[in-house]
Parts: sequence; structure tokens; C-alpha cells
Amino acid sequence: MYTAASPTAAILPGRRSESLVWRRDDWRRLPIRQQPSWPDTAALDAVRNRLATLPPLTSVADVRRLEVSLAKAASGRAFLLQAGDCAEPMDASGAAAVRGKNRLIGAMAEAISDRTGLPTVTVGRIGGQFAKPRSRPTETVDGRELVAFRGEMVNDPRADERLRTPDPSRLLGAYRASKAVLNELYIIAHETAVRRLPDAWPAPFTTGHVDEAGLVRSWDGSLRSILGDYGETRRSPSGGWAHTGLWTSHEALILDYEEPLVRRDPQTGEWFLLSTHMPWIGDRTRRLGEAHVAFHAGIANPVGCKIGPSTTPDEVVGLCEALNPTRKPGRLTLISRMGADAVHDRLPGLVRAVRAAEHPVVWVCDPMHGNTERLPDGRKTRRVARIAAEIRGFFEVLRDVGERPGGLHLEVADGDSAECVGEGGPMSAEEIGDGYRTLCDPRLNEKQSIMIADLTGRLLARGGDGGSEQPVPAADEAVWTRP
Ligand code: PEP
Ligand code: CO
Repeated sequence: MYTAASPTAAILPGRRSESLVWRRDDWRRLPIRQQPSWPDTAALDAVRNRLATLPPLTSVADVRRLEVSLAKAASGRAFLLQAGDCAEPMDASGAAAVRGKNRLIGAMAEAISDRTGLPTVTVGRIGGQFAKPRSRPTETVDGRELVAFRGEMVNDPRADERLRTPDPSRLLGAYRASKAVLNELYIIAHETAVRRLPDAWPAPFTTGHVDEAGLVRSWDGSLRSILGDYGETRRSPSGGWAHTGLWTSHEALILDYEEPLVRRDPQTGEWFLLSTHMPWIGDRTRRLGEAHVAFHAGIANPVGCKIGPSTTPDEVVGLCEALNPTRKPGRLTLISRMGADAVHDRLPGLVRAVRAAEHPVVWVCDPMHGNTERLPDGRKTRRVARIAAEIRGFFEVLRDVGERPGGLHLEVADGDSAECVGEGGPMSAEEIGDGYRTLCDPRLNEKQSIMIADLTGRLLARGGDGGSEQPVPAADEAVWTRP
């Protein structure tokens, strides 16, 4: 049976320079932030043991495939679009919700590829994005102080003291919800692949003449070539770009959930985190020498790391050394989330330092998390104009330093939600109304998402100069205050 103190050690060829041995539970001896206070630790241990017996959610082969696509993004041969919910609802495992997100992110990726002529790699904040770091351990709702909502993996968003108590059985719920989402994504992938098979394939069934061996041979070859470019837009015969499917990613925050889903690749001895394809470290947990960095350093997945305005050049180079000591292209994605006001000031020094240290990274812009404001009623919002401004700033900085913009990281929702203010959505706080549905941070709605994707495509196509057109008018600056 699995225990946290399992003595199994992994030899990781070439991955860690300072030590060849990494253990899944090394993080337990280090300082850790943003973990819930589970009231029932015996129940937590039972859940961890159960998770360790359950099948992995992703496969080593798929995780390696994504790393190949990300290596293309690191060298400017592809662009990464990572998008989805801030906090994924668990009932989003319904087929309709997954298909809606897949369709929107796919349409955004196609819009980017149409402008750039390059494949866009699509990664959802999906199939596991159930845990949230919070700036305060409690929040006040209607005058009552409650434990903060930390994602549906931990507690319930409803304002009820009992429901807000962290409940370890929710970790199993997160596993099941992730499995349902991944299952739906695989079905979508296969449907998409079958649609691309040669037109003639159903003929044997309709004519009654079946050359079974020939059919299997042709399907085998077609499916292999079709699934070989999964997760990247590809040129369709009509000349446009077509989306092929989503990879999954989430912030690997609750390490009691993630650790039991680390599994060993029997062929190489490497450890893979098979709760997702691409985990990332949040800005609040990215400290060197602390648990989250140590945990991600030992897994062989491609990993992301958010970097906010407090990041120093020494820290960012330290993160590159810890997370990618062998300088493997595709392994590390740095996600800049500075805010439109700070990006010109904070980002250039970091990009220069990483460049000088010769670390290959995918430079990604998250224009959402540095641009959050409060509505008069206390809810969070973001102005589309500020989001567009940070993207422009990011492109300018990278162009000036001589690096390539590798991707965009967004919080989006399909449909007509009203959470971010600006063209394509509510133009004022009053217009937000009941279109505000997010469980955590405000997401771009469908129209706003497509507009931002189109702006990004134009900026990429013009080498960072998006032209003088203003795709989004500035929203009223006076309505909001900084949180
Ligand atoms: C997030 O991506 O939802 C998030 C909390 O981001 P950050 O770590 O950048 O604050
Ligand atoms: Co968020």
C-alpha cells in the first residue's frame, strides 16, 4: 500500500544537477503556503491512500507529446494558448460544458493561427482546475466571517459555515470530475479525428463489400497521423486552420491531492504527475526552497510558473535552474502577470536575466491577474482595455529585448457571461447584472475572448506592433478602485 513516506527513490537521468534523487514526498519537509486546514487528518490520509490506488488521469506519452509542442513555442514555431476557468466548477464535467470550452478555445486558436500562419497549441485550464490560492484565509459575506472559498476540491463556494469547512472527500470528487472531463475531451478528439479520415471510409459498410485488412491498415495510418498533431491547430484542406483538441492544465496547489497521482514511467524511471498534462505553480507559491517548487522540480511534465511584479531577476533565474537545470526546451513556461501598469517596468529585467542565463523558456502573457479591480459591490472585475494594454506591453517588452512571445494565458467562458467590462460585454458596472457567474475571478466572455485572440494574432503577425487601430475602447476609468 502507498504511504507518504515511501522509501522509493527515483533516478532522474540528467534532470537534476544538484541531486539525482527526488522523492514524491520531499515537499513535506519544506515550508508550504496556501494549504487548507483539514480538520480531519485521518480522513485526509485515507483519501490520499485511495487516490494512490486509482488509475492515472493522463498518460506519459501524451505528456511528452505536449512537451514537444511547447518546445516549438519556445523557439517561435508555434504559439501557446492556455485558457479556461479561474476556478473550474465540478459540475462542468457535463458534456455540454466541456464542449463549449473546447469550441471557444478552439475558435480563439484558429483566429490566432489565421493571423500568424503558425500552429497554436491549445491547453485548457480544465480537468483539474479545482483549487485556488487566496489572499486572505477568511472572507466576510453579508457581515459574517467565513473560511475563504479555496476551490471545489477543498470546500463549497456557498456562504455557509459548515459547507466552507475543508473536506478531504472533495479530493476524490476532484479526481472523478477530472476523469469525466478528460473522458469527454478524448471522445471529442476521436470524433474530430474520424471526421478527418478519407471521405471514402464508410463506403465498405454501405456497399456491403468489406476489405477488413485494408480498412484497418488505412485507418491505422490515418489515425496515427491525425492524433500525431493533437492539441495544435493544423491547416485544413480548405486553407484555413482547424482546432484538433485540448490538453489539460491546472495549478498544482493542493499537494496532498497531487502527490498520490505522481507515477513512475517504467521505461525511464522518471516521475510524472498524471493528474494533468501541464501543471503550473502560482505566483503565491513560487518561492525557491519551498514545497511547490521542490515538488515540480522532480516531475518530468512540462511545467508552468507564474511570475508577478514582485519577482526579481535573481529569483527568476533561480526558478529556471531549479525547474529546468538541463535547459530542455518545452519543459518550462514562464507566465508573466504584471498588470498593464507594471509590465514595462518589471518584465524587461526578468527577460534579460533569463536570456543571459541561456534558459529556453516559453514566455507567456497572463493579462488577467495583474489587472483585477473591485466593483462598488465588492465583486471582482477586469477591464478589457487593461487586458489589451498588458498584452501590447508584453509584446513590446519581448520585442525590445529580442525574445519571442510564446503564448497567452487567459480566463475565459463561452457564452455571454458579463464579468469583464468593455466591448463585447457590459460597458459599465450597472450593466453587469446577473451575467456574473464565475466561482472566482472574472472571465472574458465569448466575444471578448475572440477579440483578444484576434488582437494577439495581429500583434504576433506584425512582430509586436499591433498597428494603430484600437480594437477595444477604453472603459470608464473612474468606476473602479484597486482591490
Ligand atoms: C490563477 O491563475 O487563477 C491565479 C491565482 O493566478 P496567480 O498565481 O498568477 O495569482
Ligand atoms: Co484567476
